Amino acid sequence: MTISGYTYNEFGEKLNAYVSASQPIQSLEHLLGRSSELERIKKSLFAPGRHVFIYGERGVGKSSLAATAANQYQSADSSYIDVSCAPDATLISLIINIAYIATDLSHIKTISTSVSSKLNLRYLTLENNRVEVQSNLNDTVRTLSDAICLLKEVTEIHSERPIVVIDEFDRIHSAEERNRFADLLKQLGDKKIPIKFIFTGVGTSLKELLGSHHSAIRQLETIELSKLSWDARWEILLSAAKAFNISVEYDICVRIAAISDGYPYYVHLITEKLLWRVFEDENKVSEVSKDHFQSALRDAIAGITAELNRPYELAVNRRSIEYEAIIWATADSDYLQSSLVDMYASYKFIMKQLDESPLIYDQFSQQIRNLKKQRFGEILVSDMQRGYYTYREKMLRGYVRLQAEANNVELLGEEAKPTQKEYMKAPAKSSTGYYQSRPPKGVHFGRNRN
Ligand SMILES: Nc1ncnc2c1ncn2[C@@H]1O[C@H](COP(=O)(O)OP(=O)(O)OP(=O)(O)O)[C@@H](O)[C@H]1O
Ligand SMILES: [Mg+2]
Repeated sequence: MTISGYTYNEFGEKLNAYVSASQPIQSLEHLLGRSSELERIKKSLFAPGRHVFIYGERGVGKSSLAATAANQYQSADSSYIDVSCAPDATLISLIINIAYIATDLSHIKTISTSVSSKLNLRYLTLENNRVEVQSNLNDTVRTLSDAICLLKEVTEIHSERPIVVIDEFDRIHSAEERNRFADLLKQLGDKKIPIKFIFTGVGTSLKELLGSHHSAIRQLETIELSKLSWDARWEILLSAAKAFNISVEYDICVRIAAISDGYPYYVHLITEKLLWRVFEDENKVSEVSKDHFQSALRDAIAGITAELNRPYELAVNRRSIEYEAIIWATADSDYLQSSLVDMYASYKFIMKQLDESPLIYDQFSQQIRNLKKQRFGEILVSDMQRGYYTYREKMLRGYVRLQAEANNVELLGEEAKPTQKEYMKAPAKSSTGYYQSRPPKGVHFGRNRN
């Protein structure tokens, strides 16, 4: 084993304290590149009656930001209340759920008689000096004002400073139910009930999630979460590598950051596979090699869920690598939308790397149009701007980039590689909240490349 001093188990455990491909981040030290958003949340939660709504693409890090912010706000006498939404969830069912979770966590679950005599409870019950949820809440909590009354009781018993995360709000199927949350927030403010909510949802606007005809916007600090900055992307990799005294050259950092397309999941996954490869290398090494990197890409692809894999397989449609190149060309840009002309330029560049002759433009555009069809995985949709395309599921672009890279094709090709080997240093924790969000020097994006 190359990483001396660690047994297999010790290595696995330590590595997974740094990488977290399958779970949201919960703590400040591992949440990278989001300090300005955290600061905004922190400030806005001081305002009585104000809550937070975090929205953005799938997988950009909404739940992680919400969990970290909630951990910061929640008083130490309890844990924050975390509820996830199911398609059939309603406002009432969620609040009942919150009551169950809160009583389980409650710091006064077992209370003294002097405290209990001060509590005037309608929905929660006191039995043998313990706070419990009434067994029949589904019958007794029916209207919005019942729900508010229940939340008031929850606020009293849960903790000094309670906060609730309502995760995946977009999953609530009924628009009517989603809209009711606007009234809830307004009334919580009017009644001065000091419980805070952080919502997360996949979407491009709050209007889409909450409906437009409400004044609740005044009760909400809205945070549109964008892709992770370049600095934060490689800080994930570098902080994990540094923990094992392994160095990573500039080139590999840039490749991983570029592949990820700003979705931290890919950086975590590739880093995890990469460091396992280093750990299992028979030779003693102190630096990640190109071979480790290539193997890690293959391991990452093998470990990726069908949700991302399946549309890609359909798009490739069992065809040869020349056809796969068409799909890679759709992901060769840092812009969310690409025009056919841009994609064709990327395609020709990729075919040059493969030493193959490209299709003519008309054939190429026909193949691109096919990618909008269901039987080709429906990976693209037409953008509002005529002649432009965008990914139906944005996170899939990262998977496409990963496939290209595993086939030794560099999307976002680097024109000017560093002349000498440069090693990246993990940037110091940003105190200003500023992270480099532009691509590093040398990374050249698809547009206008010939
Ligand atoms: N700021 C960050 N720094 C490091 N890793 C992050 C950051 N944000 C998210 N991650 C990682 O990225 C992955 C996706 O994050 P998260 O689950 O929070 O995203 P999400 O937007 O809630 O996704 P979904 O839309 O699928 O619910 C997780 O593995 C998480 O550990
Ligand atoms: Mg989430």
